[in-house]
Amino acid sequence: MKVHKDSHGPRVLVLGTGGTIAGRAASSDDNIGYVAGQVGVAELLAGIEAPPGVALEAEQVAQVDSKDMEFSIWLALAQRCAQALADPTLAGVVVTHGTDTLEETAFFFHSVLGALKPVVLTCAMRPASALSPDGPQNVRDAIAVASTPGAQGVTVVCAGVVHAAQDVQKVHTYRIDAFASGDAGPVGFVEEGVVRLAKPWPERPTGAPPSIPDWPRDADPPRVEIVFSHAGARGDLIDSLVAQRAQGAPGAISGLVLAATGNGTLHREIEQAAARAQAAGVRVVRATRCPQGRILAKPGDTIDDAGALGPVKARIRLQLELMGTTGC
Ligand code: SIN
Repeated sequence: MKVHKDSHGPRVLVLGTGGTIAGRAASSDDNIGYVAGQVGVAELLAGIEAPPGVALEAEQVAQVDSKDMEFSIWLALAQRCAQALADPTLAGVVVTHGTDTLEETAFFFHSVLGALKPVVLTCAMRPASALSPDGPQNVRDAIAVASTPGAQGVTVVCAGVVHAAQDVQKVHTYRIDAFASGDAGPVGFVEEGVVRLAKPWPERPTGAPPSIPDWPRDADPPRVEIVFSHAGARGDLIDSLVAQRAQGAPGAISGLVLAATGNGTLHREIEQAAARAQAAGVRVVRATRCPQGRILAKPGDTIDDAGALGPVKARIRLQLELMGTTGC
């Protein structure tokens, strides 16, 4: 499906994937009892005035509640983005997405696309059927970012704030300003369709060149699980995951992210089980449970750390590492 709202450039491609932004509830005063992923992206755009001179095109790539996001959808999206970004006439891409795993999709794109043009993910906390939905303004703001000369990299736009993919995190369950960038702070703000930068646009990640377009859509990524370290933690969950691997069970783990306390510390039971996992050939990484700050490595650390990445992004980075693409 394609929607041309204006025949003049710059062109922005809007890819729909579902989420609350495309959600419908039975009543306009219901902001939580909706079904996500009901309204098509063309319909979402129908009520939105494109910025002057900007030509919009829309494609529906998926229609899911983002809690059910899958690697295959990431691949389809990333491949479509890569193809679109290679078109010299295209200014940028906007992706409408659920809020729940938005930071994961954004980080995946950041890691694999090497985007020099803007790829802007946006969302909503209220369904399209709400009395006062936040989606239309967010989409309008995301299009403003995607068509801003000089904009680059993977960002998330929500409630007038532009966040870098590597920093953004969903921090609120209900408020429309649901995202934050932690210590790093936002990239900037969108005010009446104009971007005000607070810092430079995100750099493309360093490391191996992106290889995303070559991956088959049905590729099964290496299984990487996240295990929390917490008061009273036990290591038997890790041991049973490692035992499945030893038995050659299909889809057994290749990697483990330990959601660690504070500066990367682990309950002794988890630490001992992690050592057994490493000895069995599982790649283990620590990521802090803290929403802000980074793990500061210490002499004698025996398990690598993910720096400032939280557990869900550390999991993606580890999957890409195990697939042979460093990402960032
Ligand atoms: C989803 O993530 O798809 C549903 C929740 C939301 O978009 O806020």
